[in-house]
Amino acid sequence: MTALTTLASDRTAALAAAEAAGRVDDAFLDRFDAQFPRLHDLFTRLYGDRADGQEQLAATVAAASTSWNARPLELKVRDAQREADAGWFQSERMLGGVAYVDRFAGNLAGIRDQIPYFRELGLTYLHLMPLFDAPEGDNDGGYAVSSYRRVNPSLGTMDELSELAADLRTAGISLVVDFIFNHTSNEHEWARKAVAGDPEYADFYLIFPDCEMPDAYERTTREIFPDDHRGSFVQLPDGRWIWSTFYHYQWDLNYANPAVFRAMAGEMLFLAGRGVEVLRMDAVAFIWKRLGTACESLPEAHLLLQAFNAVLAMAAPGMVFKSEAIVHPDEVVTYISPEECQLSYNPLQMALTWEALATRDGRLLQDALEERHALPAGTAWVTYVRSHDDIGWTFADEDAARYGIDGYAHRQFLNRFYTGRFEGSFARGVAFQENPTTGDARVAGTTASLAGIEAGDAGGEDRVVLAHALALSTGGIPLLYLGDEVAQLNDYSYRDDPARRGDSRWVHRGNRPRDRYAERGDESTAAGRVFRRLTKLISVRQQAPEFAGNDLIGFRTPHPSVVGYQRPGPDTRVLVLANVGDAEVQIDPLTLSGFAREAYDLVHDADLDLDEGLTLPPHGFVWVRVTPL
Ligand code: GLC
Ligand code: GLC
Repeated sequence: MTALTTLASDRTAALAAAEAAGRVDDAFLDRFDAQFPRLHDLFTRLYGDRADGQEQLAATVAAASTSWNARPLELKVRDAQREADAGWFQSERMLGGVAYVDRFAGNLAGIRDQIPYFRELGLTYLHLMPLFDAPEGDNDGGYAVSSYRRVNPSLGTMDELSELAADLRTAGISLVVDFIFNHTSNEHEWARKAVAGDPEYADFYLIFPDCEMPDAYERTTREIFPDDHRGSFVQLPDGRWIWSTFYHYQWDLNYANPAVFRAMAGEMLFLAGRGVEVLRMDAVAFIWKRLGTACESLPEAHLLLQAFNAVLAMAAPGMVFKSEAIVHPDEVVTYISPEECQLSYNPLQMALTWEALATRDGRLLQDALEERHALPAGTAWVTYVRSHDDIGWTFADEDAARYGIDGYAHRQFLNRFYTGRFEGSFARGVAFQENPTTGDARVAGTTASLAGIEAGDAGGEDRVVLAHALALSTGGIPLLYLGDEVAQLNDYSYRDDPARRGDSRWVHRGNRPRDRYAERGDESTAAGRVFRRLTKLISVRQQAPEFAGNDLIGFRTPHPSVVGYQRPGPDTRVLVLANVGDAEVQIDPLTLSGFAREAYDLVHDADLDLDEGLTLPPHGFVWVRVTPL
């Protein structure tokens, strides 16, 4: 075994390993030369004191070269297109959809049959929730992976996934899948070998003989799924303890071991070869642990992501990463850069949209858009109204304190409001992971149920549309949870399913609502009305170049219930004004006097005279094309 030494000799070792594995072509060599100094630096910082540093780095490079050699021509063509248009995901034409394969369409063949619908909707990005081999029964919706190289047999095969990726590509849709790299399931081959004492895999996970070290770590770690087990560890049948941040059958990988990095890079490259264009990097905050810290968002977590990014840049240069960091907003942005994750969920905008709808006060959202929205060049937000996960109130306490709001008390209020425990609430949600020690909880529920449609609230449909009008207009890739566009309601049947009853997120993961999709053309139904209004917004967005990119300029009005911003285009801007309140708001001409009189209402296709002011109905909004004076 050889430790890492100098750039020059480690480079020689890496190239020798690549050559031993097969041909090293010029295209690969160019990218290797561009990326290797960076990868070497990252490896040195992560694994500088490891005896096997050099060989693991060399093996990683060899795997990248082999993967490039096997890369199908059409994927190389796509790589070249993406490299020539690196900002492809910032276009106003981007629209994402997310669904579970089984719940939305039964299996991969069923998803393929839905392609005409995806085109009707205008999708350019499709995230299929984890579709890999996983334990039978309870498997955290597939987030417990037993093999990254095998599709769950009930959904199809890897060949079908590659074919689906190709069909989607032809339809103008990029396939997105999860890269669940913080943990594997306890049934993964590596996990079985690790607990059996196989020396090659013994250090793949964090296993301790007794609870001394686990207790020491747990003094500073956060509990993620306290309904399942307290703390961050679970006990094995033989009495040892293993790190398990999420469910007891999801075991965290030990990235302090470079063999784990090398092995997971291999799994990533395998997926890259299937035609996936975006990898959703699951649970990024948790991948590195250090005693005495929260073991979240440590500097090494970033180094690891950058190292994966460098490997991908050598072998599949058209691909990008999306970060899933549902943490404090100061931390969320630290994952976003062209060298790390080019895309990131925007959990703050998501949570504050719901916060604003509950309080009828848009000021926290307004501040967040003005102060926490900017991103580095070459990156983009993924904006969403809700996901397959719970809503956590991830706003910064210091931001709330400006208005005299106590963060803890406000979260308690929001949880009560969205679980319907607050009198007068329009929401029908369910608590998720209430922590008896801290009093924390998160909220589950579909958009329609949380917004008031289930409760029969008169503003319900407007709120669904308003929340999407925000997600569709702030910049980045808007991501629809499929079913929301036809106002899908909560599904309480999970309570009768032993594999699901312990996880209330299943309330908002119902099967594709066939009846509601059938009603989508019928405006006498909620499904039809919401569908018409959302598809109108989607088509307006596609045709408004102002919505490309991420630039956003705040627009303050004297009304706390109004969130306002401008999206600048080459000559004109789109002014968005959204009223989260229950009362009509008049925007007076003076407030609008920085713009030319003649303006255009993009959603209603109508000329406007700004000298007459603007009227925002309760839970209403406008997208107006204006010309700054
Ligand atoms: C991510 C997923 C979530 C899952 C967790 C553990 O947060 O979005 O659904 O429970 O990771 O993999
Ligand atoms: C925690 C994690 C987040 C994950 C969620 C799943 O909030 O921070 O990453 O999505 O749990 O419910």
